[in-house]
Amino acid sequence: MAQNYVIVALGLVVYAWTWMQGAHGEYLIGVGSYDMTGPAADVNMMGYANPLQNTAGIHFRLRARTFIVAESLQGPRFVFVNLDAGMASQLLTIKVLERLNSRFGNLYTEENVAISGTHTHAGPGGYLQYVVYSVTSLGFVKQSFDAIANAIEQSIIQAHNNLKPGSIFMNTGDVKDAGINRSPSAYLQNPADERARYPTNVDTQMTLMRFVDGASGKNIGAFSWFPTHGTSMSNQNKLISGDNKGVAARLFEDWFASQNNSTNTNSTVPDIGQLMKKAQSIKATRGKDCKKLASQASKVRKNDGSLFVGAFCQSNVGDVSPNVLGAFCIDSGKPCDFNRSSCHGNDQLCVGRGPGYPDEILSTKIIGERQFKTAVKLFESTSEELSGKIDYRHVYLNFTDIEVELDSNKVVKTCPAALGPGFAAGTTDGPGLFGFQQGDTKINPFWKNVRDFLTKPSQYQVDCQNPKPVLLSTGEMFYPYPWAPAILPIQILRLGKLIILSVPGELTTMAGRRLREAVKETLISSSNGEFDDETHVVIAGLTNTYSQYIATFEEYQQQRYEAASTLYGPHTLSAYIQEFKKLAQAMAEGENITIKGPSPPDLSSVQISFLLDPLGESPPKGVKFGDIKEDVAFPKRGYFTKGDTPSATFWSANPRYDLLTEGTFAAVERLQGERWISVYDDDDLSLFFKWKVDNSSLHGLATIEWEIPNDAVSGVYRLKHFGATRTTIISPINYFTGASSAFAVQ
Ligand SMILES: *[C@@H]1O[C@H](CO)[C@@H](O)[C@H](O)[C@H]1NC(C)=O
Ligand SMILES: *[C@@H]1O[C@H](CO)[C@@H](O)[C@H](O)[C@H]1NC(C)=O
Ligand SMILES: *[C@@H]1O[C@H](CO)[C@@H](O)[C@H](O)[C@H]1NC(C)=O
Ligand SMILES: *[C@@H]1O[C@H](CO)[C@@H](O)[C@H](O)[C@H]1NC(C)=O
Ligand SMILES: *[C@@H]1O[C@H](CO)[C@@H](O)[C@H](O)[C@H]1NC(C)=O
Ligand SMILES: *[C@@H]1O[C@H](CO)[C@@H](O)[C@H](O)[C@H]1NC(C)=O
Ligand SMILES: *[C@@H]1O[C@H](CO)[C@@H](O)[C@H](O)[C@H]1NC(C)=O
Repeated sequence: MAQNYVIVALGLVVYAWTWMQGAHGEYLIGVGSYDMTGPAADVNMMGYANPLQNTAGIHFRLRARTFIVAESLQGPRFVFVNLDAGMASQLLTIKVLERLNSRFGNLYTEENVAISGTHTHAGPGGYLQYVVYSVTSLGFVKQSFDAIANAIEQSIIQAHNNLKPGSIFMNTGDVKDAGINRSPSAYLQNPADERARYPTNVDTQMTLMRFVDGASGKNIGAFSWFPTHGTSMSNQNKLISGDNKGVAARLFEDWFASQNNSTNTNSTVPDIGQLMKKAQSIKATRGKDCKKLASQASKVRKNDGSLFVGAFCQSNVGDVSPNVLGAFCIDSGKPCDFNRSSCHGNDQLCVGRGPGYPDEILSTKIIGERQFKTAVKLFESTSEELSGKIDYRHVYLNFTDIEVELDSNKVVKTCPAALGPGFAAGTTDGPGLFGFQQGDTKINPFWKNVRDFLTKPSQYQVDCQNPKPVLLSTGEMFYPYPWAPAILPIQILRLGKLIILSVPGELTTMAGRRLREAVKETLISSSNGEFDDETHVVIAGLTNTYSQYIATFEEYQQQRYEAASTLYGPHTLSAYIQEFKKLAQAMAEGENITIKGPSPPDLSSVQISFLLDPLGESPPKGVKFGDIKEDVAFPKRGYFTKGDTPSATFWSANPRYDLLTEGTFAAVERLQGERWISVYDDDDLSLFFKWKVDNSSLHGLATIEWEIPNDAVSGVYRLKHFGATRTTIISPINYFTGASSAFAVQ
């Protein structure tokens, strides 16, 4: 109770203040953001299920970005969190809600909190609770989980504390060349007249919301939805990365910070001779101890809660690939088999190409830039202000056996979760196991034996999933704990005319269109005029929990990857549509959902972890952590110029002793007068932090590479490393730093 009074009292103060300032705005709005990068060494990445793809450094950091909207302090509100993560996780949702409950009482619950993933495939895994999603990460990884849970909580606290009167604007527009359909033969299974209603086999529309502080008129954030996979970075990449949506967010937030900010662009180009002379006088420092907060002090974008938040969220992404040049056979260079995405029967030879092919980092940047550019255009031209109710509906469903009434009065059922062989084949974004192909409708005797050894599917399951041959009957596998979710949350959030559908999986393009259309029709037909043709429905994919794919019934017949990963059988989409329509009807009629459905299990107590934490380590004899192993190598001309990549390697400890959250493992510093100031850090696209174990001494090495960007200012620079270690498992953590020799850049 007491905390409610405090909230109300604070609210009154905010109101009084903003009233005096002449503030206006339809809603209370708040945004927040927090670092969730996680363990940058040894942890399997979530997405491709490649057991060899373990983190070994950072390209740029991962963040949780949040907005909260409320009608008023006492009125309805909801929270939307966008994670630079592969997907949401049921366990994360459960544990974050517990934390929110102890902090805010019943202000934020499963009903009005949505936690969504961008679907990057380059973030640390092990934070989901079902077996299938933690096999390659060697089970549960507490460090990954904690980093994300903390970031969600902190970003929500920030947004909550930032709540103030403001306005929200909406805009829509097309993103060009940022996605192609990676299963076009499956898309063609959909009825011709349905396909004829759409110009392409992917959705190109981006929906963007702009948040404006009512008192100052300042923009405080923007959130957008657009479908394309977070697979610009390949399954060989080892650097933590937000993939193309993370790039878009980084570019957008940096673009915003540079707006209305006339930092002195020093037009007097300094004399390179003098810069070189100055640089030569500054040698690498030896490794030395530093304070815990040193890396945070060196961070370029300090998170004091007032940062502009720009988020790029995922939508009906199921069959949408960012590798827009298409898929080709790596042996012949020819296009792959159209129906099977294989090359003479081998799925592993067929690989998609991004627009920067063969440079995947360039591809990631280009696909990110394309989303960023549309977002800027939509941001700058938004004029349509949202107004009207904030509302939400939520229900849990047991997808094992939902009865679905089809149009013809025929009743069908969903099935226990299962994966088909097309799942094992992987996709053109990341080929799977040898011996499988997308579209497989048979399983060979060898894999049948392996399957039966694990769990033989029941005859009921085999019939129910048909024509998917059951490779893994994950819904019937409970040892040592459940392999797949049975209970899924679905949710509708309403912000005036904008309707957000929280879907716990990846709808294909056509599946998403059908769901949006059904919800919109229901809203219109069930209300008396409150909803109309202007009602705008967006799908927030990979939200609140994860249950893989949702293909249409027709696509399901072909059993490509998306269909083979549609867990609950051929009528999975129909079940979603039926149940979402119920929520939409309740919302339109102002009714509450009285049956909340079965709660999902909290499997935290039965999780198993095989990945060991680092136990403690010391540097090799005669050196200190932070000492230079390989200093910057100068080009012949003696200085660096744009496009060069100076790099330095330091003796270092495993980055898992301290994740340096909201800090940095690496910085590029520029000399200003006699002071070094941080101008790039490990959240910059131009700076690469790479970590590995030295194969001869078995000690850790941290390499910092800086691709000098075009807008870098001429001057004297150095590369700086931050790290943390402990000598034994029980000793305290020590922080250290070290710097390269200085070098001139022109
Ligand atoms: C920059 O300032 C102008 C005038 O105050 C404003 O209209 C514009 O929206 C601002 N730009 C951004 C990106 O906030
Ligand atoms: C302008 O940009 C500089 C460098 O990015 C930053 O330090 C400063 O805080 C910005 N100023 C404003 C008013 O945003
Ligand atoms: C511009 O650069 C010159 C040469 O490095 C330096 O002496 C001067 O102080 C700089 N001016 C500003 C305003 O930073
Ligand atoms: C793909 O499969 C369909 C049958 O499902 C067949 O009609 C078509 O010819 C195949 N296309 C190619 C290019 O093999
Ligand atoms: C879901 O439904 C199935 C079939 O009715 C049942 O066996 C199972 O226990 C339910 N799962 C949960 C977690 O309640
Ligand atoms: C729905 O629930 C809300 C909040 O508990 C309550 O204020 C409202 O009266 C309920 N509406 C109906 C129609 O039951
Ligand atoms: C050790 O690493 C270096 C450089 O990464 C590589 O050239 C060398 O082959 C490796 N040696 C062994 C024994 O793996």
